[in-house]
Amino acid sequence: MGRILALPEALQSQIAAGEVVERPASVVKELVENALDAGATIIKVDVEAGGLARITVTDNGFGMDPDDAVACLGRHATSKLRTVEDLHALHSYGFRGEAIPSIGSVSRLTITTRTPQAPEGTRVRVEGGAPPLVEPCGTAVGTRVDVRDLFFNVPARRKFQKSDRTEATAIEEMMTRLALANPGVDLELHSDTRELLRAPPAQDATAIKDRAERILGKAARGNLYPVDGTAGDIRVHGLCANPAFSRGDQKGLYIFVNGRYVRDRTIIHAVVEGYRTLLEVGRNPVVVLHVELDPTMVDVNVHPQKLEVRFADSSNVHRAVAHVLSDMLRTTPWLRGPSRPYALATPDPLAHTASDISEFHRQRTRDALARFSGAIPADARPFALQSFSTGVSSSVPAPQTLPGLGGALVFSRLKALGQVGLTYLICEAPEGMVVLDQHAAHERYNFERLRKQQQQQGAIAVQQLLVPVRIQLSTAEEEALSRHTAALTAAGFELSSLGPGDVLLRSVPVLLQGKKPERVCKELLTELSESGASSPLQDAVDAVLARVACHASVRAGDPMGVSEIRALLDGLDGVDLGAHCPHGRPVVRTLPLSTMAHWFDRP
Ligand SMILES: Nc1ncnc2c1ncn2[C@@H]1O[C@H](COP(=O)(O)OP(=O)(O)O)[C@@H](O)[C@H]1O
Ligand SMILES: [Mg+2]
Repeated sequence: MGRILALPEALQSQIAAGEVVERPASVVKELVENALDAGATIIKVDVEAGGLARITVTDNGFGMDPDDAVACLGRHATSKLRTVEDLHALHSYGFRGEAIPSIGSVSRLTITTRTPQAPEGTRVRVEGGAPPLVEPCGTAVGTRVDVRDLFFNVPARRKFQKSDRTEATAIEEMMTRLALANPGVDLELHSDTRELLRAPPAQDATAIKDRAERILGKAARGNLYPVDGTAGDIRVHGLCANPAFSRGDQKGLYIFVNGRYVRDRTIIHAVVEGYRTLLEVGRNPVVVLHVELDPTMVDVNVHPQKLEVRFADSSNVHRAVAHVLSDMLRTTPWLRGPSRPYALATPDPLAHTASDISEFHRQRTRDALARFSGAIPADARPFALQSFSTGVSSSVPAPQTLPGLGGALVFSRLKALGQVGLTYLICEAPEGMVVLDQHAAHERYNFERLRKQQQQQGAIAVQQLLVPVRIQLSTAEEEALSRHTAALTAAGFELSSLGPGDVLLRSVPVLLQGKKPERVCKELLTELSESGASSPLQDAVDAVLARVACHASVRAGDPMGVSEIRALLDGLDGVDLGAHCPHGRPVVRTLPLSTMAHWFDRP
């Protein structure tokens, strides 16, 4: 007799359970997805002891007749897939027919179910994969699946479960994903009588946004903005958070492909890329993003828990997500007033000043700006000044919008009042007061200019050092240098090796003239050595440019006169000013007249 024997079915299921049913949260996922596949609109989940003692999922879906209620316990028994072609065009969460038998093999499982047509329901009980007990019973239309004593017969697995608290948290996170993926469904989660989640159904866009904000917790309130766009055959829609509401981890990245929660590196990269210049290095945005594409263009059968997918053309997906997102983020909706988004038409008492600025005044402001940007030699002038040498008279600068002031804001039209605390610039707008952080604003301005120049011209203006500077490097700095030589060169730092730990700095970006080149360079290398090992070139270039912009900018504590403030304001219209400086701090805040009126009890 040969030595190879087929395993008994119960053992097959237990082995499969090892992949599908990793922890209580995976049971919740499989059962809720089954309820969704059954067309349920109300799904209630109840767990005890982190799901290890009990998980009950009740739905109002189309239920099962007595035959199906038994058949669903069989391995690879499914109603959702008939041919291999179906596998390539799935519209359901499930298709493998694995979850119910797997769960049944490692728990005490009871399924109570009834179809709308049936006069009575069916109750099926299995314990550890033993033959089922079937009996008729009275029950509502829909299905209730009750899973008790999970892993009672798999001591090894039981030992690896974390605390009840940890498991309950994992279940809550799982329900959050399911709720965000299915805004039209009424979902509830109770854990040991505590309500952990309640998500009533939402139909229209506003309700969906409110629901998501409630699910994501208090901090999300008022911080989500809708995004919707298509690129080719791919639709990308959902909600994106204000960069101020960012996280140190990637848990806020709720990404769904055709309704299925996934952790997809391509899409995550595209999202982070979209936010890149708005967030500090290491911070991640919060998004609820649905990517919808032809189901034949995505393989969902590549991961045991279906957490990963494979795209027929992943660069297409990357492009679509990055494109739709950056389009939306460019409008910086979080800077917009809540009530009136754009109000360029409102009479603006300061409007005439922009067009009437005399050439003399403009020259003076340019000179002032050049002065505090660091001396700029005449031959490098086109770079330093181009962004506003033509801007004001020939075209209307792109308006920036700010909360509370209701209207579009053109920085060059603000009236500069002065400086407070040697740090903040105070300006007057028709509808209130605008406060800028002088360093953040100047840094943003410098960064945008550098970036534009580097991207449009391939390099930035450099200053050859009369006497090259010799720099000693630590091993980590040397290593960072070898990884990021291309980025440093693109940003204007020309370095050549003199031997181990010893380099010669020959040039720096023009903007850094007058700064200590050695210090800036060492600081940069330290920073690069701490950042990720293999960031894309443009990320590394941006990181270098951000440091350069930072060093070249006025600091808190530097006195600024009104003409210097004016020069900065004029410059700000020429750049695509996001809400934040490259380090993720806000640049500008506003104080509407209405708030001041409120302070003083004026009507
Ligand atoms: N809540 C439910 N309501 C109706 N039918 C269900 C429900 N749960 C499971 N079923 C039926 O049991 C079958 C097996 O479920 P499952 O083991 O999760 O496999 P799959 O979801 O991959 O088909 C499903 O195909 C479906 O027909
Ligand atoms: Mg299923």
